[in-house]
Amino acid sequence: MPDFRIKQHPILPIPERQKIEFFWEGQAYPAYAGETISAALFANGFRVFGHHVKDNAPQGIFCANGQCSQCMVLANGKPIKSCMELVSAGMNVLPSEGLPVLPKVKQAPSTKQIQEIKIPVLIIGGGPAGISAAIELGKRGVQVILIDDKHRLGGKLVLQTHRFFGSSKAVYAGRRGIDIATRLEKELRAQKSVELWLQSTALAVFSDKKVGILKKGQEYVLVIPEVTLVATGARERFLAFKGNTLPGVYGAGAFQTLVNRDLVRPSEKLFIVGGGNVGLIAGYHALQAGIGVVGLAEALPECGGYKVHKDKLVRMGVPIYTSHTILSANGNDKVESVTIAQVDDKFRAIPGTEKSYECDSVLIAVGLNPVNEFFLKGEEFGIKIFAAGDAQEIAEASAAMFSGKIKGMEICKALGLDVGEIPNAWYETEIILKSRPGENHAETLPEIEGGGVVPIIHCTQEIPCDPCTTLCAHGLIFIDKTDIRHVPTFIGNAYACGYCERCISGCPGLAITLVDSRTNPEMPIVSIPYEFTNESIQQRDVVIVEDTEGHELGSLEVINVHSRAFSDRTRIVQVQAPKAYARQIAGIRVQEAAITKPLDHYVEHITDDTIICRCERVTAGEIRELIRQGYRDMNELKIVTRAGMGACGAKTCNMMIHRLFQEQGIPMGQVADHTKRPIFIEVPLGVFAGVHSQEEGEE
Ligand code: FES
Repeated sequence: MPDFRIKQHPILPIPERQKIEFFWEGQAYPAYAGETISAALFANGFRVFGHHVKDNAPQGIFCANGQCSQCMVLANGKPIKSCMELVSAGMNVLPSEGLPVLPKVKQAPSTKQIQEIKIPVLIIGGGPAGISAAIELGKRGVQVILIDDKHRLGGKLVLQTHRFFGSSKAVYAGRRGIDIATRLEKELRAQKSVELWLQSTALAVFSDKKVGILKKGQEYVLVIPEVTLVATGARERFLAFKGNTLPGVYGAGAFQTLVNRDLVRPSEKLFIVGGGNVGLIAGYHALQAGIGVVGLAEALPECGGYKVHKDKLVRMGVPIYTSHTILSANGNDKVESVTIAQVDDKFRAIPGTEKSYECDSVLIAVGLNPVNEFFLKGEEFGIKIFAAGDAQEIAEASAAMFSGKIKGMEICKALGLDVGEIPNAWYETEIILKSRPGENHAETLPEIEGGGVVPIIHCTQEIPCDPCTTLCAHGLIFIDKTDIRHVPTFIGNAYACGYCERCISGCPGLAITLVDSRTNPEMPIVSIPYEFTNESIQQRDVVIVEDTEGHELGSLEVINVHSRAFSDRTRIVQVQAPKAYARQIAGIRVQEAAITKPLDHYVEHITDDTIICRCERVTAGEIRELIRQGYRDMNELKIVTRAGMGACGAKTCNMMIHRLFQEQGIPMGQVADHTKRPIFIEVPLGVFAGVHSQEEGEE
């Protein structure tokens, strides 16, 4: 029986879990208690979860975050989102083929009075922003209910195995996201006045200022908060291209969820679209899980993510195609290859530049949209409502933590608590943490005179990050404290460094090496950070070393691989390198070049049948035609084509329809947007009448 579980990982522990058995199409398969149905299906090799009623197109996971509704299956007879529901022993799971047949009702279910709960503060979302706000409120004894639709706290932090950038003083920079999540959760659970409701979904906010919540997946309650904080994070943008709904096309966040949270291998070889931090980091996480990364395409001339992330990926052997776009994901019922092409300055594909690559997955990482419909509707209804983290503005998780902390204090003030003035410096820190990457400077390599030890800092771009300055025991790495976005510099000489290796093992960008010329100035020892499994590198292996931007410098023998007590799963690999290029070495290639080779032909694409609304399978051609006929109201488009009518509630297609208007030269000022309805999440109607158990009344 195929087993797609991750058995070893350089950062994540593989826990012992209780084995159970569930049924897929009537056959028994193994699963673990506490994992989602989608994880159990992926672990057993199933990627197609059903077929669409309209054109029989295969359906599978896209967001793994409860946002797109593409992962629908029938579990014990009920249509549910398999990425949100936990598998249970004996559960009978079937693919969703066409429209599900609802269970027969043998009697009218009993209803009950809906409970109403008054609370000073309701926080929707238990990610970095929501938790940080709740901690601030809890410290001041404010009664809070914090809800999250997942079965564990932490939001996207629980997917992040890498060390975080940002300010060491303000937001745990230098620590891994998964570990920050554990710390924050511990701190939160110590707050007596904060009540946690996991697996609880905010369904709607109403004009009478009540918030409808499906508590613990079972009971519908109405919460009446004095103040509401929306910390619901972000959802991934979808992209229009041929084959965009094939199983195997995932949002990058979904991929990270499957790999880093669920510990399954959804892919053997993948291609990434989008060179922001999300795409770059997803590529690194794939390599760490032993998954080949064929390449990354970015439409802009430069990647938008941090240069250290990009450099790291390139050094490991992943080609980055800037000024390139995806034309198609190719295959019949799963991804088999991807076709990309170079773009001109108007982002149009240049004929003749098409290339195809074999892969089984395509990760879409073209940006995020705030999950802010609750916030906007709450504002419209005049309730006291705040937004924090990505729901307020898309930025790094470190910024989300800090914005949550500030919002916690602002809510205290809104409740009339005397918490004093919120320091201006906090707002300044928030701005810095949210800032986009700044100028890139030329790399300067320090001279090594007289044969000492020198750290080489391969970090040349202005980004908010400072752990290296706190790691050096002698204070030899300097960033102007007034603004941590300045590029770090080494301010010692060849004899000042104590060779403790803290800076190389703690830099979030893996962008510091140490060159030790003491014993052999002609062949210094270079220490390089490395975050892959022990088995993947051994003493006496020959490795390809590369400079900051991935240019090959030479092949060298590994003379030592070690860890330090403080190095927290980052290993240090040492090679002896000729003096001529020892200082240029920034990393080691980890991926074979053969994985990244293009096919010898390209797979053709077509455009008008590209799916825009994946729930209702509405194509770009259908919508374009109506726009050309003069349609300017997206609600009318919805009525005529059903685009936006489906289970996800237009969360994935809305922005793409905007783009179709823009492409047709229609200013968005002339377009009426989708009217947002107050129920944002699909739910059985009975819950609003207080039908407690979904089983009640069914045959
Ligand atoms: S994959 Fe489950 S809702 Fe998107």
